[in-house]
Amino acid sequence: MSRWSNSWKKKNQTIGFVPTMGALHAGHASLIRRARKDNDKVVVSIFVNPAQFGPHEDFSRYPRPFDKDRALCAALGVDLLYHPTPEGIYPPGYRSFVNVEELSELWCGHFRPGHFRGVATVVLKLLQTISPERAYLGEKDYQQLTIIKKMVRDLNLPQRIIGCPTLREKDGLAMSSRNQYLSVSERRDAATLYRSLWEASEQIRKGSAISLALKDARKKILSVSNSRIDYIAAVDGLSLEEIKHPRLGARLLAAVWIGKTRLIDNIKLSRSLRK
Ligand code: PAF
Repeated sequence: MSRWSNSWKKKNQTIGFVPTMGALHAGHASLIRRARKDNDKVVVSIFVNPAQFGPHEDFSRYPRPFDKDRALCAALGVDLLYHPTPEGIYPPGYRSFVNVEELSELWCGHFRPGHFRGVATVVLKLLQTISPERAYLGEKDYQQLTIIKKMVRDLNLPQRIIGCPTLREKDGLAMSSRNQYLSVSERRDAATLYRSLWEASEQIRKGSAISLALKDARKKILSVSNSRIDYIAAVDGLSLEEIKHPRLGARLLAAVWIGKTRLIDNIKLSRSLRK
């Protein structure tokens, strides 16, 4: 990987990088298209990163349709698909991890201890190896995006991290590789998450208190059978700290279980405030 990257750099060619865990969907395709537009070369990584899964999470059942992913990358004009092995990334005796403090303990970090330490570590390693000018990540994983931006700033990494809009299904469900875990009825119910967030943001835009809007959203989500809420909150867009009153750049964040599937989503509050 480094040899390819160095050979492109010698020719002054820029590299755009899209980190993924595979099971690519239209959301990933939109990141790849953006990287294609901005750069001379595009690298996509597919690596189901064991360090970001807890002991009882879905690491072993995470979908790995590699041939399909490779065909999509080829069709989108990806120059290099980087598909390292777990031993390649974490050889025996591997001991170094990076943790973006505080931001990593909030929200998803509270429910998935160690998750963002695994994410930050692998993204740092990938950035070091691939050495792109730009890396593209989806806003769907808003906390992840915020943490990676902070890591890049704190560690003086030269990359630009570009957050790209969430792609949604027709009913509003954010595209995610984990949506394929949902049964037909769960898939239908899953749209309630985005609908509730959107309705809460509208209520707030019209002047309702955040606490009341979120109370309604909670009620709507919990009316879905087999649903459970890890969290739903209004947060500052940079610090991710909970806020009680709307402010510029604020977001509503949520993580919800539908049956055995954990879904996350978020929505910008200020966009609806400006409407
Ligand atoms: O969002 C993902 O797919 C993963 O968390 C990432 C950024 C590829 C790191 O493993």
